[in-house]
Amino acid sequence: MSRLLVCPPDYFGIEYEINPWMRVSNRVDHARAVTQWHELMRVFEEDVNVVLERMAPVPGLPDLVFTANAGVVVGRTAVVSRFRYAERQQEEAHFENWFRTHGYEVMTLDQGLYFEGAGDLLGFPECWFGGYRQRSDIRAFSILSERFHREIIPLELMDSRFYHLDTCFCPLSGGDVLYFPSAFDAYGQTAIADRIPAAHRIPVREPEALRFACNAVCVGKDVVLPAGCPSTESALQARGYRTHAVHLDEFMKSGGSAKCLTLALD
Ligand code: ARG
Repeated sequence: MSRLLVCPPDYFGIEYEINPWMRVSNRVDHARAVTQWHELMRVFEEDVNVVLERMAPVPGLPDLVFTANAGVVVGRTAVVSRFRYAERQQEEAHFENWFRTHGYEVMTLDQGLYFEGAGDLLGFPECWFGGYRQRSDIRAFSILSERFHREIIPLELMDSRFYHLDTCFCPLSGGDVLYFPSAFDAYGQTAIADRIPAAHRIPVREPEALRFACNAVCVGKDVVLPAGCPSTESALQARGYRTHAVHLDEFMKSGGSAKCLTLALD
């Protein structure tokens, strides 16, 4: 059974602006955020049959809810993130502590080598993709590729609205990928096309990409994604996936949705 790391939104809010979605003036409706988060958890536990590991929220760290950025887990090893912005750097110690106390072997990267975890490193068992420039440093991927003996295809993120790879690219269990082509340059689009045949690529059009259709969580044949993406849902269903749409617009105010709120632990 799949396990996901999550963090309750007790202290979630918009307290700074580090991506184009965040506006301090665009206040979070806290009660609504809590309701949306709990509904997402209900879908995972009841409809998708996932085991959730809840870490303790910390006052003053409003983005700790986005556990996709805790790091990346490979077997029993956790590579802890190194955040680009000072606003999120204090989260590193909390994520590291969670991994240590849960029996993971922790790997850290050199100071100043930015890497934002499963927000920027995604893939299939054989081949991984690394998003860089907006947050993670391309050099992190050569180190991880050597350490884990996996090929990592670097993809430059061209559009600041899609600042983490998981906002515009989502590998699915059947070898398919959901993605927003314009978030990448011609080189990136070719690199994706070289690895994933056309029949397995599901391009998302801009209106749904902007509702974070690609920020989805795929567990077996189930895909949990933000509400408001009907064309994406149809495309997924046509390929045999079951879709579960959840309203997560309070988290979009921070530039995150379903996938950002979870970290795959196996
Ligand atoms: N406000 C957060 C940030 O800008 C959102 C992170 C979303 N996480 C993700 N994996 N895309 O860092």
